[in-house]
Amino acid sequence: MKVVLAVVSSLNGKITKGEITNVRSWASKEDLKYFSSLIKKNNLIVMGRETYEAARSVIKLIPGKQRIVLTRNPERFKPSEVKGQLEFTNDSPTQLVKRMEANGYKTMLLVGGSTISTLFFQQNIIDEVWITLEPNIFGKGKGLVEETDLDVSLQLNSIKKLNKSGTLLLKYSVVRSG
Ligand SMILES: NC(=O)c1ccc[n+]([C@@H]2O[C@H](COP(=O)([O-])OP(=O)(O)OC[C@H]3O[C@@H](n4cnc5c(N)ncnc54)[C@H](OP(=O)(O)O)[C@@H]3O)[C@@H](O)[C@H]2O)c1
Repeated sequence: MKVVLAVVSSLNGKITKGEITNVRSWASKEDLKYFSSLIKKNNLIVMGRETYEAARSVIKLIPGKQRIVLTRNPERFKPSEVKGQLEFTNDSPTQLVKRMEANGYKTMLLVGGSTISTLFFQQNIIDEVWITLEPNIFGKGKGLVEETDLDVSLQLNSIKKLNKSGTLLLKYSVVRSG
């Protein structure tokens, strides 16, 4: 299973602008177009519960596209579950990858936020990072990962300029030592 983390970030690594939870209030329309196509192409999309709550109003459930939300309290969300389309789980990232692999999935698109990305990095199961860098600097906001002693090395695979302002789509592979 290939696990790809896809996020949009400010130049200084913030994935939220202060307290604003709606990424679309600052990310470019070109990133929105790219991200929408990514969602269209992928049939396994994983996110943290906070990200789910922030994006809930724009998430369109469709057959064949499985969204999985990580929460410590999946029971709370049982009424919202839709078989094969929306699941809430407290599986660890490693358990989840194994389970979905056994179900035949080849790629997992992880869409954040900071807490869940950190958890996946800590379990060393992210293979690629696809990051849209917006030409903004935010003093406050959540980081791409939480403040921990993570140390991840990456190799740049591609760069694409998405618009005239210089929004960049950077695709990296995680370099695993040993
Ligand atoms: N710019 C971007 O590309 C981007 C991408 C994604 C998100 N965001 C933004 O980032 C914000 C959310 O990020 P976040 O870091 O606050 O939250 P998050 O990573 O989306 O979700 C955190 C939640 O995950 C659950 N969780 C934590 N540890 C867990 C574990 N060990 N097992 C199972 N579940 C666990 C908990 O839910 P419970 O409390 O239910 O247990 C926790 O509250 C939102 O504002 C969103 O808009 C931005």
